[in-house]
Amino acid sequence: MSEIENKKPEVEEEESSATTTTTWPDIEEELVIPEVLHSEGVKKLHMSIQTEWDYLQKSACQTAAGRALWKHVIHDPLAHLFAGETHLRNLHTKIQTDRLNNAREVSGVILAVRTLWFDTRIQAALDSFDNDAAQVVLLGAGMDARSYRLSCLNKTDVFEVDFPDVLETKTSLVQAAVKAREELKMTAKSLVRVAIDIRDNHWFEKLKKSGFMPEVNTVWVLEGILYYLSHTEAMQVLNLIAEKCALTSTVLLADFMNKPSATLPNSVFHFYSDWPDQLLPSLGFSHVSLSQIGDPDANFGLLHDPRNLFNKLLRLPRSAQIHPDDGTPCCRLYLVEASGSPPPDNPIENM
Ligand SMILES: C[S@@+](CC[C@H](N)C(=O)[O-])C[C@H]1O[C@@H](n2cnc3c(N)ncnc32)[C@H](O)[C@@H]1O
Repeated sequence: MSEIENKKPEVEEEESSATTTTTWPDIEEELVIPEVLHSEGVKKLHMSIQTEWDYLQKSACQTAAGRALWKHVIHDPLAHLFAGETHLRNLHTKIQTDRLNNAREVSGVILAVRTLWFDTRIQAALDSFDNDAAQVVLLGAGMDARSYRLSCLNKTDVFEVDFPDVLETKTSLVQAAVKAREELKMTAKSLVRVAIDIRDNHWFEKLKKSGFMPEVNTVWVLEGILYYLSHTEAMQVLNLIAEKCALTSTVLLADFMNKPSATLPNSVFHFYSDWPDQLLPSLGFSHVSLSQIGDPDANFGLLHDPRNLFNKLLRLPRSAQIHPDDGTPCCRLYLVEASGSPPPDNPIENM
C-alpha cells in the first residue's frame, strides 16, 4: 500500500459509505488490463514507479487510474498506460467493495467530476480568447493526458510542469506504448514538458526558458496540486500567477481543499482555504466563481442520490466545519475559476 492510501478521506483516494443507491455507474466488474501494460518496456517503467517513487509522485498514477476506470464518462486514451496495473487494481478493488456495499459515493467519483469540470472550464476559457493565440500551463501535470484527448487544444501550446522523474517516465511510457504499436495522436498544437519543482523560487524563469510567453493569453491549470504545497509555497505560486495577469488575459482554474479536508489525522496535505472566493480577489484576480462537487455545474449526472455526502454538504452553510447529524468533519473540495487581465492603457514593460 502506498502512503497516501492510509489517509482518509481524500480527493485522490476517496472513501465511500455503505447505503442504498439507485443507479450504479457503468464501471466494469472484471478489470481488464490492456495489452500495452504487458509489454516489457512498460512493465519495467511501472516497476520503477512502484519501487522508487514517493506518495506524491504516485498520486499522479492514482488520478490516472480514476480516469481509466471512469472511462464511461472520460475518454482518456492514455489513462490505463499512465496508471499502471497496481493503481488500477487498487482502485478497482475499492469500487468492487463499494458495489458490494451499495455505496452512495463510489470511489473515484470526485476525480471524475473534477476532471470533467476542468475539461469544461479549459474549453470555455480558450473560447473566451476569441481565436487569439493561447497557452495552457498544467502545474503538477502528473499523468494528465489532455494534450492527447482534448480537441479544444488544437490551436494551443501546452506546458506540462512536474518533477523531472515524473515527466521523464511519462515520456518513456508514451514512447514504449508507441513501440508496442499503440496508436497515439496528440490533440494539442504543441506540448512541452518542463521539469521543475514549483517550490523553487526560479520556476517561472525556467518555464519562460522552455518557451512560455508571458504576453500570450494563458490558462493556468492547478488541478490536484495546491494542497500538496505548504501555505507559503501555495501563496507564492498564486501571487506569481496573479502578478502575471498584468501582462495578458489570464484564467486560473484550481481546486482547493477546505480546512477539515486538509487537517484530518495523518493528512499528507498542507495548504487549504475555506474561502478561496475571498482569497483570490485579495491577490488581484477578478470574476471569481466557486463550485462544489455536486453543484449543477460540478455534477455531470454522476451524483444522483440526494442523500450522498456531497449533496448533504451542499445543504449546510460553508462555515460549518462539523456535520451536525453525525459530528464528522465537513470535508469540501472547491473548484474555482478566476481571471485577470492587464489594466487598460497599461503598457507592457518591465515584467
Ligand atoms: C495528484 S497529482 C495531480 C496530477 C494532475 N494534475 C491530475 O490531476 O491528474 C499531483 C501532481 O503534482 C506533482 N507535484 C507535487 N508537488 C510538486 C512540486 N512542488 N513541483 C512540481 N510538481 C509537483 C506531483 O508530482 C504529481 O504529479
